[in-house]
Amino acid sequence: MMVVERIREVRQRVREARTQGRRIGFVPTMGALHAGHVSLIRAARADGGFVVVSIFVNPAQFDDGRDLEAYPRPLEDDLEVCTREGVDLVFAPKREEMCPDGPKTTVRVPGMSETMCGAFRPGHFDGVCTVVAKLFAIVQPDVAYFGEKDAQQLAIVRRMAADLNLPVEVRGCPLIRDTDGLATSSRNVYLSDQDRRRALALSRALLEARDAVVGGERDAGKLADAVRRQLADAEGVETEYVAVVDPDTLDDLECVAENVLVAAAVRVGTTRLIDNVLLRDLGERGGGG
Ligand code: PAJ
Repeated sequence: MMVVERIREVRQRVREARTQGRRIGFVPTMGALHAGHVSLIRAARADGGFVVVSIFVNPAQFDDGRDLEAYPRPLEDDLEVCTREGVDLVFAPKREEMCPDGPKTTVRVPGMSETMCGAFRPGHFDGVCTVVAKLFAIVQPDVAYFGEKDAQQLAIVRRMAADLNLPVEVRGCPLIRDTDGLATSSRNVYLSDQDRRRALALSRALLEARDAVVGGERDAGKLADAVRRQLADAEGVETEYVAVVDPDTLDDLECVAENVLVAAAVRVGTTRLIDNVLLRDLGERGGGG
């Protein structure tokens, strides 16, 4: 496995892989790799391409300096994971390599970036879009793999790639949960045992919403209210938002039709957690027709 810090080197390695006829699969991350990241790497491996993983804690997407400084950076462990998973190239740039003289250009997807998480993290998705656009320009992947865990991010990045005609397929991969139901996240290490138990209310409420949809519930307001009620009843859990939206446009739904994303963000102690359930092609599942 090659590990490089320089943009120039990434370009060279990717060019060599292309010359050998390989397609380029790309998994952008901020490191502290866990089962969610590994699932993306495995999806890329399964497609048979030259697999590039980036590890870069992007300052532009943090609205809180303390959160940025505290973000876990276990690079040695991450490289071990990448080696074990058969990654071909890791791009782990220093901050100066990615933004040598501070950011000026910003990529923004208005309309989708200010709702849901964006309402609580102003500028966050501008930071995400800008770094992802840069990473796409550096790596020039054929396919880029993103987790449905960050469903809003996935929808926004897809829209950005489409609007800018970027020659990359943005592929969504299923959300990975721990055995207790908690969505795996680099931030879970911040949770005390008690907070972790409390945090389970989030996945429980959302999985019940999924069951309700599967059971035929189509009223978005009722779905959202049920999730809100459950979270309100959970001790030590403070709800930021509960949204029932179209997973591609992020528009609020009144009535669930083909596709639905039920997403929520909460705070447990000082830790912010997001989770969601995504259902597609409901119309084709029979029953309601
Ligand atoms: P990060 O939080 O490290 O996540 C990297 C990728 O892993 C994202 O696509 C995210 O959705 C996916 N992921 C995280 N937890 C997951 C889970 N439990 N199941 C499935 N996929 C999961 O997202 C970012 O980094 C950054 O915003 C980035 C795109 C790298 C830009 O800086």
